Order: sequence, then C-alpha cells, then structure tokens
Amino acid sequence: MGHGGNVIDELVTDHREVEELFGKIEALPSGHKDRKLYADQVTIELVRHSVAEEAYLYPAVREHVAGGDALADKELEDHAKAEQIMKDLEGCAADDAEFDRLTGMLMSEIRAHVADEEGNLFPRLREACPADALDDLGDKVRQAKKTAPTRPHPSAPDRPPANKLLAPGVGMVDRMRDALSGRGKKS
Ligand SMILES: [Fe+2]
Repeated sequence: MGHGGNVIDELVTDHREVEELFGKIEALPSGHKDRKLYADQVTIELVRHSVAEEAYLYPAVREHVAGGDALADKELEDHAKAEQIMKDLEGCAADDAEFDRLTGMLMSEIRAHVADEEGNLFPRLREACPADALDDLGDKVRQAKKTAPTRPHPSAPDRPPANKLLAPGVGMVDRMRDALSGRGKKS
C-alpha cells in the first residue's frame, strides 16, 4: 500500500508499515542480530509518525472533536511511554536480555495506540472535520515526515550518514525528534 490520501489514510499506512516491521521481529528467533536492525527501523518510523501526529493530528482533534483535548492528552501520554521504551531499546543489542522484554513492551504499547486511533480517534475526526481539511492535513503530515534527516543532527556533524544510524546509537530518538520538529536547525 502506498502513501497518499487524507491524514487518516496516511497515518493508517504508517501503522501498517510499523506492524510489518513488528512481524519481522517476531518471525526471527530471540537474539538474532536482524531483530536489532528492525527495532531501529521501527524507532525511526515511530518517531517520524509521532512527531507528525503531534504537529498536525492532535491539534486538529482538539479543534474539531468534542472532548478532543482529553483524547489528544491521552495520545500524548502514550507517545511519551513509547518514546521512553524506544530510548531504553536504543542501548540494547539483539542478544541483550532486556531486548526481548523492551520490544515486547513496545509492541503492546503501539498495538494499543493503533487500535485506539483506528477504532476511536480517527472515526471521530473523520466525522467532525471537513474532508478538505483532512486532505490538507494529509499533505502537511507527508511534508513533516519528508523533513526527516538524510543527514544526522546538525549539532553532530561528525556522525555517519543517517543510514548508518541503524547501528546502535545513543539519542537516536532525540536526534530524529529534533530534526523533524526543526529544533536545533540553523535557519
Ligand atoms: Fe498513530
């Protein structure tokens, strides 16, 4: 499935991609080195997705959906939980005892997030928000994700190119978040 469509279609496509990566992790035996590779890819996808949601989805939920503030606050709390798990996971090798526990926690956290958004938040937003605004938000979310760094964080110019960040690295979540939000960028 390709990316495109309104904000809901776009974010649902992200959810499917993340679930596919979870499936790849689960299909490999405990300790297999590729589980770390996929966990890092999941982190990159999830941070990108979360930053885009925080920038565009939740403000729209607050604006259009009745009780939207409480819904958005709950999602932000979930993101913070997932982010902490991803930070802990960054420092773990595939054969680290903590790796399996943390990936298990991340999967259940994210699967709950996906079920909640797709079963509750998205239908309510679709009902409350005009179709052209949803389309516009889709473009904005795609744009936000495109500003993902192909280079590492500007404050760390001696780091290898972004594809090498798939190796274990400290602070990948922070670097992704900074780069996506524009924080720390020279302008
Ligand atoms: Fe989401």
